[in-house]
Formats: sequence, C-alpha cells, structure tokens
Amino acid sequence: MKILVTGTAGFIGFNLASRLLREGDEICGVDNFNDYYDVSLKEARNRQLEKNAAFRVRRVDLADMEALKKVFGEFEPDVVVNLAAQAGVRYSIDHPEVYMESNMVGFLNILECCRHAKKMPRLLYASSSSVYGGIKEMPFREDMCVDTPISLYAASKKSNELMAHCYTHLYGMQTIGFRFFTVYGPWGRPDMAAWLFADAMAEGRAIKVFNYGNMYRDFTYIDDIVDGLVRCIRSTTLPAYDVFNIGNHRSERLLDMIEIIAHEMGIASLDDVKMEMLPMQDGDVPKSFASVEKLNKAVGYEPTTPISVGMPKFVAWYKDWKAGKFTV
Ligand SMILES: NC(=O)c1ccc[n+]([C@@H]2O[C@H](COP(=O)([O-])OP(=O)(O)OC[C@H]3O[C@@H](n4cnc5c(N)ncnc54)[C@H](O)[C@@H]3O)[C@@H](O)[C@H]2O)c1
Repeated sequence: MKILVTGTAGFIGFNLASRLLREGDEICGVDNFNDYYDVSLKEARNRQLEKNAAFRVRRVDLADMEALKKVFGEFEPDVVVNLAAQAGVRYSIDHPEVYMESNMVGFLNILECCRHAKKMPRLLYASSSSVYGGIKEMPFREDMCVDTPISLYAASKKSNELMAHCYTHLYGMQTIGFRFFTVYGPWGRPDMAAWLFADAMAEGRAIKVFNYGNMYRDFTYIDDIVDGLVRCIRSTTLPAYDVFNIGNHRSERLLDMIEIIAHEMGIASLDDVKMEMLPMQDGDVPKSFASVEKLNKAVGYEPTTPISVGMPKFVAWYKDWKAGKFTV
C-alpha cells in the first residue's frame, strides 16, 4: 500500500513506518522536525528510515496547506496515518498557541487534503487517553462522555475526533481515531517519564515524582501500539467512523515502573532512588486504565507486554542511544 504517515521523525510515527517498510509498503513521511525535543533524535530516526528505498520524507509543516497539498498530489496515498501533533499535557499549559497551530489547523489541513485527493484515502489519526480527563470510573471505555477536558492538549484531541466525524458525515471519508495510553519503548520521547527518570538516575539527580507517587498509568509498549495500528491499516471491515482506545489494559503503579528502571540502571532498590515528592501537576490525572475490548473485537488487538518486559527493553535502547550508537 501507499501510506502517508505524518510524524515519522517522532516516536510512534518512526516505529510504525519501520514496521510498514518491513512489510513492503511504500511510505511517504511528513514531519517538520521541530525542536520541542532533541532534533538530533528526530534526525537519527529519519536516517534509519531513509536506509529503505521505499521511504521518502517531506519536511513540511501541517499548517502549511500549499506544501501539504503538493505532498498529497505527488504521492496519492491509499491510507493516511496522522501522528504529527504537538504532544504533551504539561507543555500545553504554557504554550497553548502551538496546539492550535499543529493540532487544529494542521488536522484541518489533513482532512481537507484527504477530501480533495483524486482518490480519497482512508484516514487514521492520533487522539489521546487525555480526553478522559478526570473521569473516576475505570477502565476508560470509548462510550463514556468525554466533554470535559482538563488541558488544552486534551481539548485539541477531542476536537480532532469531532472534526473527523464531520468529514465522515459530509464526504463519506473513513476516519478512525486512536486514544493512545502512555506509550513507551525504544526510540521513545525525551520529555516522557521513562526517559526523564533514566536520565536523572544516570546523572545521580533526584527524579520528580508527582502526586507524591500515588500515580497509576496504563503504560503501553510501542510494539503493541504498532501492532494495533497495522491491524487497522490492513482491516477492510472497520466502519466509516470510529474511535478506539489503544492501551495495555493494565494500570500499573508509577513506583513499580520506577523500580524496574532503577534496577536496569544498576540501582539496587527503590529505597536507593533519589526522589523529589511533588503535588499533582495542572492538567494531569492520577490514574489511567484502558478498556481495549472494542479494538479487540474489531481487529483482534491483544497487547502482550507488561512493564516488567517492556521497560528493560526501553532502558537497553536508552543506554545504546546515550553511548552514541545511532548518532552516525
Ligand atoms: N506517546 C504517547 O504516549 C502519546 C499518548 C497520547 C497521544 N499521543 C499522540 O500520538 C502522536 C504521536 O506522538 P509521539 O509520542 O510519537 O510524539 P512525537 O513528538 O515524538 O512525534 C510527533 C512528531 O510530529 C512532528 N510535528 C509536530 N508538529 C508538526 C507539524 N505542525 N507539522 C509537521 N510535523 C509536526 C514532530 O516534529 C514529531 O516528530 C501525537 O499526535 C500525540 O499527541 C502520543
């Protein structure tokens, strides 16, 4: 298939594109390589992808409609997977404007380019578990009311789901959204907890632990995420419009995750980890827990990786990265 993946210099986009290239698809990546985090990591991911002749990249901003139109016109994708966005709940508190530009204007441009394409592609796109906001009932199910986001990031993702619904209704475009739950693994993100903890431990600094450690996350290993996405890309039975949770269906204690990372970083026990205990941050939630029944019924999605297996894989990759294994 010809698949246009946005955000291929990013964590999930890179891992998805790698798998699709291995399976023989032709991939056009779109990314603006912004400096939200270390650009050399984005360039390193891109270099890996460019080793495959079936991959091409376009350094384009989603907010640049003319440039995006050109990419669609040249490539004529069968499927579009929109993963490029400004991610991160905390950053949205101080930088709201970036979320409007990349996540709202950018997403509208993706919808418009799909709509006006010679042959309308199917659209899969990233939403987020953050749309569940402060809901207390667990696990989170797709039929719960998510009309009360508590960060602008969550509001932008919920808006994407609404915008997609309009385009399906008005133009018959297939749009499938994914509410990702705390994704981690090799080639991960330096602004997320696993990486921040590993960095602090490597440098002997204290890690910041919010809500005084009383946090639970549905941590989802990247290969499980990619497996779910690929199943949907290949599926011919999905409805015209839908939104799915894509998580692990295991809500794990943050302190257990810290203990695993510490062990892999050579720290004997949790008692030896330096921690700065802090209150809850604005926009954040104490617990996430995904029901994955709906995606399981639709495409047979079955995540298999607990943090006891996935976190050591992340740390092994992190050590290689820090040792400069991927810099040339
Ligand atoms: N990683 C997670 O745990 C998680 C959880 C929920 C939702 N998501 C969503 O999944 C998607 C992928 O996340 P990720 O973890 O790979 O993040 P990432 O930041 O690593 O990747 C996003 C990529 O998009 C690019 N990008 C950002 N704005 C752009 C723009 N305007 N034009 C072109 N490129 C742009 C960035 O340069 C980056 O390479 C995002 O939509 C994110 O909001 C991720």
